[in-house]
Amino acid sequence: MGARGKGSPAYRTPRTAGEAWQGKIERLSWGGLGLAHSEDGRLILLRAPLALFPGEEVQAEVRWKPRHGEGTVKAWVSRDPRRIPAACPVAERCGGCDLWEAGPAAGELKRQMVEDLFRRALPEAPAWSWRAAPEEARRHRIQLHWNGRILGFHRRGTNQIVEVSACPAAADALSAALPRFREALLGKLLPTRPQRWELSASTPAAKVFATDEGGRTWVLEPDGFQRSDESAEQILDGLRLRHRPGGFFQACPAWAWTAFKDLLTGWDLKGGTLFDLYGGVGLFSALLKDRFTRFELVESDEAAVGFARKNLSLLHLDFEARVADVEAWVGERLAEGGPGLGSGGDAILLDPPREGLSAELCAQLQTAGAGRLVLVGCDGAAFCRDAKRLGPAWKLTKLAALDLFPLTHHAECVGLFEPAGDSR
Ligand SMILES: C[S@@+](CC[C@H](N)C(=O)[O-])C[C@H]1O[C@@H](n2cnc3c(N)ncnc32)[C@H](O)[C@@H]1O
Repeated sequence: MGARGKGSPAYRTPRTAGEAWQGKIERLSWGGLGLAHSEDGRLILLRAPLALFPGEEVQAEVRWKPRHGEGTVKAWVSRDPRRIPAACPVAERCGGCDLWEAGPAAGELKRQMVEDLFRRALPEAPAWSWRAAPEEARRHRIQLHWNGRILGFHRRGTNQIVEVSACPAAADALSAALPRFREALLGKLLPTRPQRWELSASTPAAKVFATDEGGRTWVLEPDGFQRSDESAEQILDGLRLRHRPGGFFQACPAWAWTAFKDLLTGWDLKGGTLFDLYGGVGLFSALLKDRFTRFELVESDEAAVGFARKNLSLLHLDFEARVADVEAWVGERLAEGGPGLGSGGDAILLDPPREGLSAELCAQLQTAGAGRLVLVGCDGAAFCRDAKRLGPAWKLTKLAALDLFPLTHHAECVGLFEPAGDSR
């Protein structure tokens, strides 16, 4: 039933009132939304906790905007046979994951969401590849909220807290540490003021760290959480990368390492100097250590650069690691009389935070001399915007999406760009 009559204009419907609607999900769009149409042809975007499958018939509450509707699924009339019961007891309320009921089909659903994004935002893009997460991929970092009484994750769409005593999306050691962490907070063995905490684990997940908003860290010992200045260690492919607990590292370290390594070596990324921009503690330089002869890492977090220097020294790499803002550093390198940013045999790799690259940086990169450029982005929309901004000098020649954030609708997008020839 498309509940709105054809003659009832949208502007007469109060924006706050939801209207009952029943119909079929046609396909998935970027962000995990189900896409449908009302009887009068208007687009409807539907959100559902715990996954939507194309073809499912649902009952939803829809709020009409001038040209389309947005709503939330309230009940299923028909369910896809691939849907499975969520393995997490708070899955329906917790805002941390949204694909629990997709089960083994989650990878395929996410592929469809990325397809929707690339088709709309990068219509000229080359064919792209998708790599689904292995079933064993688990998070080694979780953000918890403590309000002085309750420890948990934010409830979906709110900042209320859903209490948790385990997290099946996290590495077993992290999940098992939750009751002990809660006990330590309740027992006032850790600071008790309401705040956000990060619980993180090394790889393999033998050590668990709790880091507060001030960056102070406690490590879980047999007798409980103890204040510590120890660094976290990720052993990936036999290589040792250290970082500050609570500082940036890939959420699923071993899986991210494998996925990036297979992709970038598959694209035959190699050459003279690798400009590892937004380089963190040196993950990409380490990962590509045998494929370039020199590495220049730029990163704004001083502590991360300190770790990068130690990590890359232990790998005996020829490198320079600088604390700098990427945009300012690129600007200086490319200024008249500056040393430039490589030549044909070199590559630039950019792995910015979620918000992506600035328009100014994309403009500066138009005259960068390197022969290849790789853009990595954890926010698909920002990635597509930047991929377009890198033109006309840089042409997107290879494109991939990696499922580095299992059980959520997020995906890591990676693009390889080459000089666009005549237009440079
Ligand atoms: C998505 S992380 C990538 C880190 C690293 N490539 C890795 O995979 O481990 C983005 C990094 O950019 C750094 N960053 C953020 N803004 C920056 C800026 N304006 N200039 C340089 N680095 C920045 C952050 O501190 C963070 O380490």
